[in-house]
Amino acid sequence: MKEKIQQIRQQIEEGLASVSLRKSLFELKMKFLGKTGEITALLKGMRDLPPEERPEMGKVINSAREWAEEAFAAREEELKKAELEDKYASEKIDVTMPAAFSAYGTEHPISMVRRELVDIFAGMGFEIFEGPEIEKDYYNFQALNIPADHPARDMQDTFFITEEFLLRSQTSSGQIRVMEKKAPPIKVLSPGRVYRSDSDATHSPMFHQMEGLVVDKNITLCDLKGLLDEFARKMFSSETKTRLRPSYFPFTEPSVEVDVSCCDCHGKGCRLCKGTGWIEILGAGIVNRRVLENCGVDPDVYSGLAFGMGIERIAMIKYGINDIRLLFENDVRFLKQFKD
Ligand code: PHE
Repeated sequence: MKEKIQQIRQQIEEGLASVSLRKSLFELKMKFLGKTGEITALLKGMRDLPPEERPEMGKVINSAREWAEEAFAAREEELKKAELEDKYASEKIDVTMPAAFSAYGTEHPISMVRRELVDIFAGMGFEIFEGPEIEKDYYNFQALNIPADHPARDMQDTFFITEEFLLRSQTSSGQIRVMEKKAPPIKVLSPGRVYRSDSDATHSPMFHQMEGLVVDKNITLCDLKGLLDEFARKMFSSETKTRLRPSYFPFTEPSVEVDVSCCDCHGKGCRLCKGTGWIEILGAGIVNRRVLENCGVDPDVYSGLAFGMGIERIAMIKYGINDIRLLFENDVRFLKQFKD
Protein backbone atom coordinates (compact mmCIF):
# COMPACT_ATOMS: atom_id res chain seq x y z
CA MET A 1 0.00 0.00 0.00
CA LYS A 2 2.77 2.43 0.91
CA GLU A 3 4.38 1.67 -2.38
CA LYS A 4 1.14 2.44 -4.18
CA ILE A 5 0.96 5.79 -2.42
CA GLN A 6 4.55 6.53 -3.30
CA GLN A 7 3.70 5.79 -6.92
CA ILE A 8 0.69 8.08 -6.84
CA ARG A 9 2.78 10.92 -5.39
CA GLN A 10 5.29 10.51 -8.13
CA GLN A 11 2.62 10.48 -10.80
CA ILE A 12 1.10 13.63 -9.34
CA GLU A 13 4.46 15.39 -9.20
CA GLU A 14 5.20 14.57 -12.83
CA GLY A 15 1.69 15.52 -13.88
CA LEU A 16 1.85 18.85 -12.09
CA ALA A 17 5.14 19.70 -13.70
CA SER A 18 3.82 19.04 -17.18
CA VAL A 19 0.38 20.77 -17.09
CA SER A 20 0.23 24.32 -18.28
CA LEU A 21 -3.52 24.85 -18.59
CA ARG A 22 -5.93 25.12 -15.72
CA LYS A 23 -8.35 22.85 -17.55
CA SER A 24 -5.81 20.01 -17.73
CA LEU A 25 -4.87 20.65 -14.12
CA PHE A 26 -8.49 20.11 -13.12
CA GLU A 27 -8.63 16.88 -15.12
CA LEU A 28 -5.48 15.66 -13.40
CA LYS A 29 -6.91 16.53 -10.01
CA MET A 30 -10.08 14.57 -10.75
CA LYS A 31 -7.96 11.57 -11.76
CA PHE A 32 -6.63 11.37 -8.19
CA LEU A 33 -9.00 13.25 -5.95
CA GLY A 34 -12.32 13.08 -7.84
CA LYS A 35 -15.20 10.80 -6.87
CA THR A 36 -13.66 7.92 -8.78
CA GLY A 37 -10.08 9.16 -8.35
CA GLU A 38 -7.22 6.95 -7.25
CA ILE A 39 -6.73 8.45 -3.76
CA THR A 40 -10.48 8.39 -3.20
CA ALA A 41 -10.44 4.73 -4.17
CA LEU A 42 -7.74 4.04 -1.60
CA LEU A 43 -9.83 5.69 1.09
CA LYS A 44 -12.85 3.67 0.05
CA GLY A 45 -10.72 0.49 0.07
CA MET A 46 -10.05 1.01 3.80
CA ARG A 47 -13.15 -0.90 4.72
CA ASP A 48 -11.62 -4.09 3.28
CA LEU A 49 -8.59 -3.86 5.61
CA PRO A 50 -8.43 -5.66 8.88
CA PRO A 51 -9.57 -3.24 11.64
CA GLU A 52 -6.16 -3.11 13.36
CA GLU A 53 -4.47 -1.82 10.19
CA ARG A 54 -7.06 0.84 9.53
CA PRO A 55 -5.81 3.66 11.84
CA GLU A 56 -2.30 3.63 10.49
CA MET A 57 -3.30 3.29 6.86
CA GLY A 58 -5.91 5.96 7.38
CA LYS A 59 -3.21 8.35 8.52
CA VAL A 60 -0.97 7.54 5.61
CA ILE A 61 -3.69 7.91 2.99
CA ASN A 62 -5.09 11.07 4.55
CA SER A 63 -1.74 12.71 4.72
CA ALA A 64 -1.19 11.79 1.04
CA ARG A 65 -4.57 13.32 0.25
CA GLU A 66 -3.77 16.52 2.11
CA TRP A 67 -0.42 16.75 0.41
CA ALA A 68 -2.07 16.23 -3.00
CA GLU A 69 -4.72 18.86 -2.33
CA GLU A 70 -2.11 21.40 -1.34
CA ALA A 71 0.06 20.57 -4.33
CA PHE A 72 -2.88 21.03 -6.71
CA ALA A 73 -3.87 24.30 -5.04
CA ALA A 74 -0.33 25.64 -5.24
CA ARG A 75 -0.03 24.72 -8.92
CA GLU A 76 -3.41 26.28 -9.63
CA GLU A 77 -2.22 29.55 -8.09
CA GLU A 78 0.89 29.48 -10.25
CA LEU A 79 -1.11 28.85 -13.41
CA LYS A 80 -3.60 31.60 -12.54
CA LYS A 81 -0.78 34.06 -12.11
CA ALA A 82 0.83 33.05 -15.38
CA GLU A 83 -2.47 33.37 -17.25
CA LEU A 84 -2.99 36.84 -15.82
CA GLU A 85 0.49 37.87 -16.82
CA ASP A 86 -0.12 36.61 -20.36
CA LYS A 87 -3.33 38.60 -20.45
CA TYR A 88 -1.61 41.76 -19.24
CA ALA A 89 1.11 41.33 -21.81
CA SER A 90 -1.33 40.80 -24.69
CA GLU A 91 -3.61 43.67 -23.67
CA LYS A 92 -0.85 46.12 -22.96
CA ILE A 93 -1.48 49.57 -24.45
CA ASP A 94 1.25 51.97 -25.34
CA VAL A 95 -0.32 55.30 -24.50
CA THR A 96 2.47 57.15 -26.27
CA MET A 97 1.45 55.68 -29.68
CA PRO A 98 -0.44 58.04 -32.02
CA ALA A 99 -4.23 57.55 -31.89
CA ALA A 100 -5.89 55.36 -34.53
CA PHE A 101 -7.08 57.51 -37.45
CA SER A 102 -10.81 57.92 -37.76
CA ALA A 103 -12.29 59.71 -40.74
CA TYR A 104 -14.50 62.69 -39.99
CA GLY A 105 -16.75 64.56 -42.35
CA THR A 106 -17.08 68.22 -43.20
CA GLU A 107 -20.15 70.36 -43.58
CA HIS A 108 -21.60 70.31 -47.10
CA PRO A 109 -20.85 73.56 -48.99
CA ILE A 110 -24.58 74.18 -49.45
CA SER A 111 -25.16 73.90 -45.71
CA MET A 112 -22.17 76.15 -45.10
CA VAL A 113 -23.45 78.87 -47.41
CA ARG A 114 -26.98 78.54 -46.09
CA ARG A 115 -25.70 78.93 -42.53
CA GLU A 116 -23.61 81.93 -43.54
CA LEU A 117 -26.59 83.57 -45.24
CA VAL A 118 -28.78 82.98 -42.20
CA ASP A 119 -26.07 84.45 -39.96
CA ILE A 120 -25.71 87.57 -42.10
CA PHE A 121 -29.44 88.29 -42.33
CA ALA A 122 -30.18 87.26 -38.74
CA GLY A 123 -27.62 89.94 -37.81
CA MET A 124 -29.88 92.45 -39.58
CA GLY A 125 -32.93 91.30 -37.63
CA PHE A 126 -34.44 88.76 -40.02
CA GLU A 127 -36.42 85.81 -38.70
CA ILE A 128 -36.48 82.39 -40.39
CA PHE A 129 -39.63 80.92 -41.90
CA GLU A 130 -39.58 77.52 -43.60
CA GLY A 131 -42.54 76.72 -45.85
CA PRO A 132 -43.54 73.32 -47.26
CA GLU A 133 -41.82 71.78 -50.29
CA ILE A 134 -45.09 70.29 -51.53
CA GLU A 135 -46.96 73.51 -52.15
CA LYS A 136 -50.31 74.66 -53.46
CA ASP A 137 -50.44 76.17 -56.94
CA TYR A 138 -52.05 79.13 -55.18
CA TYR A 139 -48.99 79.93 -53.00
CA ASN A 140 -46.37 79.09 -55.61
CA PHE A 141 -48.04 80.97 -58.50
CA GLN A 142 -51.51 82.49 -58.22
CA ALA A 143 -51.06 84.60 -55.10
CA LEU A 144 -47.71 85.77 -56.54
CA ASN A 145 -49.59 87.30 -59.44
CA ILE A 146 -48.93 84.37 -61.79
CA PRO A 147 -52.38 83.12 -62.80
CA ALA A 148 -52.91 79.86 -64.70
CA ASP A 149 -51.62 80.16 -68.28
CA HIS A 150 -49.41 83.15 -67.44
CA PRO A 151 -46.28 82.94 -69.63
CA ALA A 152 -44.04 83.44 -66.56
CA ARG A 153 -44.94 79.88 -65.57
CA ASP A 154 -42.80 78.62 -68.44
CA MET A 155 -39.59 79.77 -66.74
CA GLN A 156 -40.48 77.75 -63.69
CA ASP A 157 -41.93 74.57 -65.11
CA THR A 158 -42.11 72.20 -62.16
CA PHE A 159 -43.36 68.80 -61.04
CA PHE A 160 -47.12 68.70 -60.47
CA ILE A 161 -48.49 66.16 -58.02
CA THR A 162 -52.15 66.97 -58.72
CA GLU A 163 -53.78 69.96 -60.41
CA GLU A 164 -53.62 71.77 -57.10
CA PHE A 165 -50.34 70.56 -55.58
CA LEU A 166 -46.81 70.82 -56.96
CA LEU A 167 -43.20 70.74 -55.82
CA ARG A 168 -42.56 74.43 -55.19
CA SER A 169 -40.47 76.08 -57.88
CA GLN A 170 -39.45 79.05 -55.73
CA THR A 171 -39.28 80.03 -52.07
CA SER A 172 -41.33 83.13 -52.95
CA SER A 173 -44.35 81.05 -51.84
CA GLY A 174 -43.05 81.76 -48.32
CA GLN A 175 -43.78 85.48 -48.83
CA ILE A 176 -47.50 84.75 -49.13
CA ARG A 177 -47.58 82.31 -46.23
CA VAL A 178 -45.82 84.80 -43.94
CA MET A 179 -47.96 87.80 -44.93
CA GLU A 180 -51.15 85.76 -44.48
CA LYS A 181 -50.19 84.99 -40.89
CA LYS A 182 -48.42 88.08 -39.70
CA ALA A 183 -49.17 91.80 -39.93
CA PRO A 184 -46.31 94.19 -40.87
CA PRO A 185 -43.63 95.03 -39.90
CA ILE A 186 -42.21 91.84 -41.41
CA LYS A 187 -38.59 90.84 -41.89
CA VAL A 188 -38.23 87.19 -42.82
CA LEU A 189 -35.80 84.90 -44.52
CA SER A 190 -37.13 81.73 -46.08
CA PRO A 191 -34.56 79.12 -47.07
CA GLY A 192 -35.35 75.76 -48.62
CA ARG A 193 -35.38 73.28 -51.48
CA VAL A 194 -37.08 74.12 -54.75
CA TYR A 195 -37.72 72.08 -57.90
CA ARG A 196 -37.71 72.82 -61.60
CA SER A 197 -37.74 70.82 -64.79
CA ASP A 198 -34.20 71.93 -65.61
CA SER A 199 -30.86 70.14 -65.79
CA ASP A 200 -27.42 71.20 -67.05
CA ALA A 201 -24.04 72.34 -65.68
CA THR A 202 -25.61 75.32 -63.90
CA HIS A 203 -29.17 74.06 -63.29
CA SER A 204 -30.37 71.12 -61.23
CA PRO A 205 -33.94 69.74 -60.96
CA MET A 206 -33.65 70.24 -57.20
CA PHE A 207 -31.78 73.17 -55.73
CA HIS A 208 -31.91 75.56 -52.79
CA GLN A 209 -33.11 79.12 -52.58
CA MET A 210 -33.10 81.81 -49.94
CA GLU A 211 -35.95 84.27 -50.00
CA GLY A 212 -35.99 87.58 -48.17
CA LEU A 213 -39.02 89.73 -47.48
CA VAL A 214 -39.33 93.07 -45.70
CA VAL A 215 -42.73 94.77 -45.35
CA ASP A 216 -43.13 98.04 -43.50
CA LYS A 217 -44.07 101.66 -44.09
CA ASN A 218 -41.96 103.49 -46.70
CA ILE A 219 -39.85 100.59 -47.93
CA THR A 220 -38.12 101.57 -51.18
CA LEU A 221 -35.50 100.35 -53.64
CA CYS A 222 -32.95 102.31 -51.58
CA ASP A 223 -33.58 99.96 -48.65
CA LEU A 224 -33.14 97.02 -50.99
CA LYS A 225 -29.87 98.37 -52.35
CA GLY A 226 -28.49 99.13 -48.87
CA LEU A 227 -29.47 95.70 -47.59
CA LEU A 228 -27.89 93.89 -50.51
CA ASP A 229 -24.71 95.99 -50.35
CA GLU A 230 -24.27 94.95 -46.76
CA PHE A 231 -24.99 91.32 -47.60
CA ALA A 232 -22.51 91.27 -50.53
CA ARG A 233 -19.74 92.80 -48.43
CA LYS A 234 -20.23 90.20 -45.71
CA MET A 235 -20.61 87.25 -48.08
CA PHE A 236 -17.81 87.99 -50.55
CA SER A 237 -15.44 90.77 -49.47
CA SER A 238 -15.53 94.25 -47.97
CA GLU A 239 -14.79 95.72 -51.43
CA THR A 240 -17.69 94.03 -53.19
CA LYS A 241 -20.11 96.39 -54.92
CA THR A 242 -23.63 95.68 -56.16
CA ARG A 243 -25.58 97.02 -59.11
CA LEU A 244 -29.24 96.74 -60.05
CA ARG A 245 -30.45 96.08 -63.57
CA PRO A 246 -34.11 96.32 -64.63
CA SER A 247 -35.82 92.96 -64.87
CA TYR A 248 -39.24 91.35 -64.66
CA PHE A 249 -40.99 89.22 -62.07
CA PRO A 250 -44.80 89.16 -61.84
CA PHE A 251 -44.70 89.58 -58.06
CA THR A 252 -42.41 92.62 -57.88
CA GLU A 253 -42.74 96.03 -59.50
CA PRO A 254 -40.24 97.39 -60.25
CA SER A 255 -38.12 94.24 -60.56
CA VAL A 256 -34.36 94.08 -60.66
CA GLU A 257 -31.58 91.65 -61.34
CA VAL A 258 -28.72 92.15 -58.84
CA ASP A 259 -25.07 91.78 -59.80
CA VAL A 260 -22.01 91.83 -57.56
CA SER A 261 -18.60 93.00 -58.67
CA CYS A 262 -16.49 89.97 -59.55
CA CYS A 263 -14.76 88.65 -56.45
CA ASP A 264 -11.94 87.15 -58.55
CA CYS A 265 -10.82 90.07 -60.73
CA HIS A 266 -12.47 92.92 -58.74
CA GLY A 267 -14.20 94.28 -61.82
CA LYS A 268 -11.39 94.05 -64.38
CA GLY A 269 -12.97 91.16 -66.25
CA CYS A 270 -12.03 87.48 -66.06
CA ARG A 271 -13.37 84.02 -66.86
CA LEU A 272 -15.61 83.84 -63.79
CA CYS A 273 -17.45 87.04 -64.77
CA LYS A 274 -17.15 86.32 -68.51
CA GLY A 275 -15.13 89.48 -68.98
CA THR A 276 -17.85 91.82 -67.69
CA GLY A 277 -16.54 92.45 -64.17
CA TRP A 278 -20.01 91.63 -62.78
CA ILE A 279 -21.75 88.44 -61.67
CA GLU A 280 -25.51 88.07 -61.42
CA ILE A 281 -26.49 86.71 -58.02
CA LEU A 282 -30.19 87.23 -57.45
CA GLY A 283 -33.58 88.58 -58.44
CA ALA A 284 -35.37 91.18 -56.38
CA GLY A 285 -37.81 94.07 -56.40
CA ILE A 286 -40.50 96.02 -54.67
CA VAL A 287 -43.42 93.75 -53.77
CA ASN A 288 -46.22 94.16 -56.31
CA ARG A 289 -49.32 95.91 -54.88
CA ARG A 290 -51.46 93.00 -56.04
CA VAL A 291 -49.43 90.57 -53.96
CA LEU A 292 -49.89 92.71 -50.84
CA GLU A 293 -53.62 92.91 -51.59
CA ASN A 294 -53.82 89.14 -52.02
CA CYS A 295 -52.49 88.78 -48.48
CA GLY A 296 -54.73 91.42 -46.91
CA VAL A 297 -51.95 94.03 -46.55
CA ASP A 298 -52.98 97.57 -47.50
CA PRO A 299 -50.61 98.69 -50.32
CA ASP A 300 -51.43 102.35 -49.66
CA VAL A 301 -50.02 102.06 -46.13
CA TYR A 302 -47.30 99.48 -46.52
CA SER A 303 -44.71 98.59 -49.10
CA GLY A 304 -42.24 95.77 -49.26
CA LEU A 305 -39.05 94.54 -50.79
CA ALA A 306 -38.27 90.97 -51.74
CA PHE A 307 -35.25 89.13 -53.01
CA GLY A 308 -34.50 85.53 -53.86
CA MET A 309 -31.20 83.83 -54.51
CA GLY A 310 -29.97 80.37 -55.39
CA ILE A 311 -27.78 78.96 -52.64
CA GLU A 312 -25.88 76.71 -55.09
CA ARG A 313 -25.16 79.73 -57.24
CA ILE A 314 -23.68 81.65 -54.31
CA ALA A 315 -21.59 78.60 -53.35
CA MET A 316 -20.37 78.17 -56.93
CA ILE A 317 -19.30 81.81 -57.16
CA LYS A 318 -17.72 81.86 -53.73
CA TYR A 319 -15.75 78.62 -54.18
CA GLY A 320 -15.20 78.67 -57.95
CA ILE A 321 -17.25 75.52 -58.63
CA ASN A 322 -18.00 75.20 -62.33
CA ASP A 323 -20.57 72.39 -62.38
CA ILE A 324 -23.62 72.35 -60.08
CA ARG A 325 -23.80 68.54 -60.29
CA LEU A 326 -20.60 68.26 -58.25
CA LEU A 327 -22.63 69.49 -55.29
CA PHE A 328 -24.98 66.51 -55.47
CA GLU A 329 -22.66 63.63 -56.38
CA ASN A 330 -21.51 63.16 -52.78
CA ASP A 331 -17.91 62.50 -53.76
CA VAL A 332 -16.00 63.02 -50.50
CA ARG A 333 -12.85 64.02 -52.40
CA PHE A 334 -14.80 67.02 -53.68
CA LEU A 335 -16.73 67.72 -50.49
CA LYS A 336 -13.81 67.68 -48.08
CA GLN A 337 -12.18 70.63 -49.84
CA PHE A 338 -14.63 73.01 -48.22
CA LYS A 339 -13.87 73.94 -44.68
CA ASP A 340 -14.65 77.03 -42.70
N1 PHE B 1 -38.42 83.77 -57.06
C1 PHE B 1 -37.62 84.37 -58.06
C2 PHE B 1 -36.94 83.26 -58.88
O1 PHE B 1 -36.93 82.15 -58.45
C3 PHE B 1 -36.57 85.27 -57.47
C4 PHE B 1 -37.16 86.48 -56.82
C5 PHE B 1 -37.49 86.46 -55.48
C6 PHE B 1 -37.37 87.66 -57.55
C7 PHE B 1 -38.02 87.58 -54.87
C8 PHE B 1 -37.89 88.77 -56.96
C9 PHE B 1 -38.22 88.76 -55.63
O2 PHE B 1 -36.45 83.51 -59.95
